[in-house]
Amino acid sequence: MKRRIGILTSGGDCPGLNAAIRGVARASYELFDAEFVGIADGYRGLIEGDWNELSYDDFSGILTLGGTILGTSRQPYRYMRVIGEDNVDKVAAMKENYKKMKLDCLITLGGNGTHKTANLLSQEGLNVIGLPKTIDNDIWDTEVTFGFHTAMDLATEVIDRIHTTANSHGRVMVIEIMGNKAGWLTLYSGVAGGADVVLLPEIPYDLDKVVSAVEKRARRKKRSFSIIAVAEGAMTKEESKMKGKERLARRQEEGYQSISYRLASQIEEKTGFETRVVVPGHFQRGGSPSAYDRVLATRFGVYAARLIKEGKYGVTVAMKGDRVVHNMLMDVAGKTKFVPKDNQMVKNAKDIGIAFGD
Ligand code: F6P
Repeated sequence: MKRRIGILTSGGDCPGLNAAIRGVARASYELFDAEFVGIADGYRGLIEGDWNELSYDDFSGILTLGGTILGTSRQPYRYMRVIGEDNVDKVAAMKENYKKMKLDCLITLGGNGTHKTANLLSQEGLNVIGLPKTIDNDIWDTEVTFGFHTAMDLATEVIDRIHTTANSHGRVMVIEIMGNKAGWLTLYSGVAGGADVVLLPEIPYDLDKVVSAVEKRARRKKRSFSIIAVAEGAMTKEESKMKGKERLARRQEEGYQSISYRLASQIEEKTGFETRVVVPGHFQRGGSPSAYDRVLATRFGVYAARLIKEGKYGVTVAMKGDRVVHNMLMDVAGKTKFVPKDNQMVKNAKDIGIAFGD
């Protein structure tokens, strides 16, 4: 059986993309007569017809490599059907290029946006298989996405290192963790790093409660040292009642660079404690994948190769109860896996005295 496979990585990168690419390729070469076409920079390459033939050797030595050998870009789903000034019908162009490449199927490695476009292409008749990557761990109906564990390790290391300097100086340290909509990374790294306050987009906070948690700790420890892990998308209770645009406009008026700068300034003003901000940013997405992510990405890649062999398309790979399975793209696209309010980890964190400001 011969299969010509197009492969692309789309959206924000994360550690484990290359391990997954390698997993798909290696297993495909084992299972059937496989040919690979690497599409550059995600859907940009598919729209513009920017691709390269790949051979077995191209997949060697990439297991531990961070980033993506294919390049990536953000091509927002909401513009996919919009014809812009360049007059390009993006959906038609993608279908045309799929034909030109003579593909039997297309593998898309990406997060929520990528899955929406993958579903669109599947509904347009292309054979598509998704692979769930993101440090945010927010893809619907999979327990985990590759990239998350490595980012959690990195964010935890940041918190650990900040702990020692916070202690030396008796400072409040506000550490901003990635995650605009979902707070999984902040929750897990916050617990792993022993943060005192954890603020998530899903659990709007009350500033006074955050302040009282910091003050209570200072009374107990006779020192004003506290660690606050705040998700970049965290918001106050008041902000949570606003529409996204209104919230953004309000934030712009306030003029802070991001949530952590506002929080630090408010805490310093209300408590008098010296407060500093740390924003590790894209550090959390960089470098080699952890052993866990290498294994996970490999397993997901192998599963995708089996799906290709079976000719099962319109699906995305997922993890459920430590078994790799697949979900229909149409059941996943457009949904986000948020941290539920009754999440056991949140309860456990509260049980050990971590404040969520709620
Ligand atoms: O989706 C992954 C992510 O790292 C989010 O946590 C973050 O909000 C966003 O991407 C940052 O995007 P960009 O790399 O485009 O700045």
